[in-house]
Amino acid sequence: MGVRSCHNFGDFRALARHRLPMPIFHYIDGAADDEITYRRNTESYESCDLVPNVLAGVEHVDMSVEVMGQKLDMPVYCAPTALQRLFHHAGERAVAAAAQKHGTMFGVSSLGTVSVEELAAMAPGPKMFQFYFHKDRALNDALLERARAAGFDVMALTVDTITGGNRERDLRTGFTSPPRLTPGSLASFATHPMWAINYLFRERFDLPHLSGHVSAGTNLATSIGDYFSTMLDQSMNWKDAEELCRKWNGQFALKGVMSVADARRAVDIGCTGIMVSNHGGRQLDGSRAPFDQLAEIVDAVGDRIDVICEGGIQRGTHVLKALSVGAKACSGGRLYLYALAAAGQAGVERALGNLRAEIERGMKLMGVTRLDQLTRENLRFRQH
Ligand code: LAC
Repeated sequence: MGVRSCHNFGDFRALARHRLPMPIFHYIDGAADDEITYRRNTESYESCDLVPNVLAGVEHVDMSVEVMGQKLDMPVYCAPTALQRLFHHAGERAVAAAAQKHGTMFGVSSLGTVSVEELAAMAPGPKMFQFYFHKDRALNDALLERARAAGFDVMALTVDTITGGNRERDLRTGFTSPPRLTPGSLASFATHPMWAINYLFRERFDLPHLSGHVSAGTNLATSIGDYFSTMLDQSMNWKDAEELCRKWNGQFALKGVMSVADARRAVDIGCTGIMVSNHGGRQLDGSRAPFDQLAEIVDAVGDRIDVICEGGIQRGTHVLKALSVGAKACSGGRLYLYALAAAGQAGVERALGNLRAEIERGMKLMGVTRLDQLTRENLRFRQH
């Protein structure tokens, strides 16, 4: 099966599963504990129905949005995700190039595998840097200054990884960064020779934003859960977030806000955006889905801050539902990561292209020509 026969999320996932050594596939695919939240993130969209209008003259539709000061040609962007060169040798370069082609934003993780300088040089469009608040204050300062100097437009402080989530698939496979050969994983690396050749003979694995400061993740194999639990500062609080926001002095989002109280506080400390997210179900299992939680957050702060809905999005209609509730845009990780693993830049371009086509078709069938015409009138939530 090739990338041209990938018509949806599930097709890309199947191809990624085929191409990747098992521990790496399960790192992307897995989530915390019983993965209830992970599944609910998508199911929440399925328990809400669209109510279309007709005869609206929809030959031209405009799906552009403005979010945190960035003009995007489509209302979905590539959320920052870690370790991308493990999934495909082009890693963040492929994602940046594909996002540029579609006129949308991409995020780069503190745990990214291509430097912010290189990505900024190839991608003049909107870019987000994802910030992990480390115990090492010199590292924190360096991350902020590098992202600023490289010209990143938006800073997103992740607030839902104060300790590592219990990702049992990673415990079972022994997944670490960098990947470690274990008796269990050896067979899987050996039976994926293309991946292994690319990993061994292309550019050496590195986390360029961290490797000058800490050895965990680059020279010292560590699980992502352990990295969060040992390297990040668990004393991080609102004062720290406020200080970071002030220091950045530009578009600043908290990534991983779920409660109304926290959303209000994000406004108070000067944030310009919040990403309503549970980290793809990878942290607190049993937490509510972003789409289920979206209305109360939009009602509380939607007129003062840009609300982004992240997690579980697999279809253009999911995006239309979130925008109908009042999100300014949506973002996701797995929605482009399986495609990256499946086919690099061509895969991500196709995944974003599929979403674009679905959003356009969905808008026409809903009877709207602009996204701000979508309202809660267009939705009905099923009773449980
Ligand atoms: C994860 C981090 C690194 O969820 O964002 O694995």
